[in-house]
Amino acid sequence: MSMLELREVDLFYGDAQALDGVSLDVASGEIVAIIGANGAGKSSLIRTIFGMEKPRRGSIRFEGQEIAGAAPHRICNLGIGQVAEGRQVFPNMTVRENLEMGAVVPRARAGAAAAMDRVFVMFPRLAERRRQLAGTLSGGEQQMLAIARCLMGQPRLVMLDEPSLGLAPVVVVEVFRVVRELNARDGLTLVLVEQNVAQSLALAHRGYVLENGRIVMQGAGAELLADDRVRQAYVGL
Ligand SMILES: Nc1ncnc2c1ncn2[C@@H]1O[C@H](COP(=O)(O)OP(=O)(O)O)[C@@H](O)[C@H]1O
Ligand SMILES: [Mg+2]
Repeated sequence: MSMLELREVDLFYGDAQALDGVSLDVASGEIVAIIGANGAGKSSLIRTIFGMEKPRRGSIRFEGQEIAGAAPHRICNLGIGQVAEGRQVFPNMTVRENLEMGAVVPRARAGAAAAMDRVFVMFPRLAERRRQLAGTLSGGEQQMLAIARCLMGQPRLVMLDEPSLGLAPVVVVEVFRVVRELNARDGLTLVLVEQNVAQSLALAHRGYVLENGRIVMQGAGAELLADDRVRQAYVGL
C-alpha cells in the first residue's frame, strides 16, 4: 500500500486550473522528486496535499485515510510535514522558540524534548545558535531551521518545496546531505521539489514530471535523469 496516494486531483484558482487529474503514489521509505518548470503547479501540489488548498475533485489518501479538503493542522497531526518555499522562519523568535513552535501539534508534544535533542545533533549550528533570533541567521541556517522545525512535528512524510533555492553551492550540498540522511538513516519518506533537477533525480528513488498541472512522465529517478526529453527540458544538457 502507498503511504500517500493521489487520484485524479484537480485544483482551481478561480477559473484557472493549477492541477489537472494528478495521480501519484509515494511508498513508505521513498524519496520522490517532483520536477517541472516555473508555474507547472509543484507548490500547488504540495499545498493541496497539506490542506492549504482545497481540490475541486479527486482523492488524497495518507495511510489509507482520505485527507482531501482536511485542515492543515489535522493533516500535520496525522504525520505529514512540509517545508514551504522561501525559508519561512519566525525572524523575531529565537532558534529554540522556532523549534518549539514545530512541536505544538498534539502528536509531537510528548516527544518534544527528545526531538529537540535529535535536531540539535543533526544541525550543530542551530544548537550553537539556539538563543539567537532566527532573523539574524544566514540564509542557509534559516533553511536548516525551517527543516528542523518541521522535524519537531515528528512527521513520517516530509514535503520540501525548493529547499535549496537561492542558497550558496556549499549550502545546497548540505541540504541534499540532510535529505539523504533523513531518508537513509531515519527512514523518513520524502517528497522533494527542486530546481536542481539532476541532483534531485540522482537522489530520488522515483520522480514525476509536472507540466501545466499534469503529470506527463514518471519513473525511477535514474531513468528520468537518463531520458533525453527530461535532460533537454530540465537539466540543460
Ligand atoms: N494563490 C494563487 N492564486 C492564483 N493563482 C495561483 C496561486 N498560486 C499559484 N497560482 C498559479 O498556479 C500555477 C501553478 O503555480 P505554482 O504551483 O506556484 O507552480 P510552481 O511551484 O511549479 O512554480 C501558476 O500559473 C500560478 O500563477
Ligand atoms: Mg513553486
